[in-house]
Amino acid sequence: MSRLESMRRRLTAQIDGINWAAETIAPLNGDVLELGLGNGRTYDHLRDRLPNRRIWVIDRILQP
Ligand SMILES: C[S@@+](CC[C@H](N)C(=O)[O-])C[C@H]1O[C@@H](n2cnc3c(N)ncnc32)[C@H](O)[C@@H]1O
Repeated sequence: MSRLESMRRRLTAQIDGINWAAETIAPLNGDVLELGLGNGRTYDHLRDRLPNRRIWVIDRILQP
């Protein structure tokens, strides 16, 4: 497997995992918490999948 394919596999697993989590919690009430904001890529995806939910994020490093 090439490095490019390995990257695609990692990103696909990340997207599939977030989508699974979003679908699983969709029927439940409450806020969403993301641990590890980073540059906000996964936060942006969460907002897309759960547009009406309040999403809290934390990170040990505050990026500008
Ligand atoms: C690989 S980045 C992922 C960022 C984001 N979720 C994404 O994929 O776009 C992991 C993030 O988790 C944060 N992090 C790691 N350990 C942490 C901890 N114990 N508490 C808070 N944030 C943490 C890091 O600072 C980093 O920004």
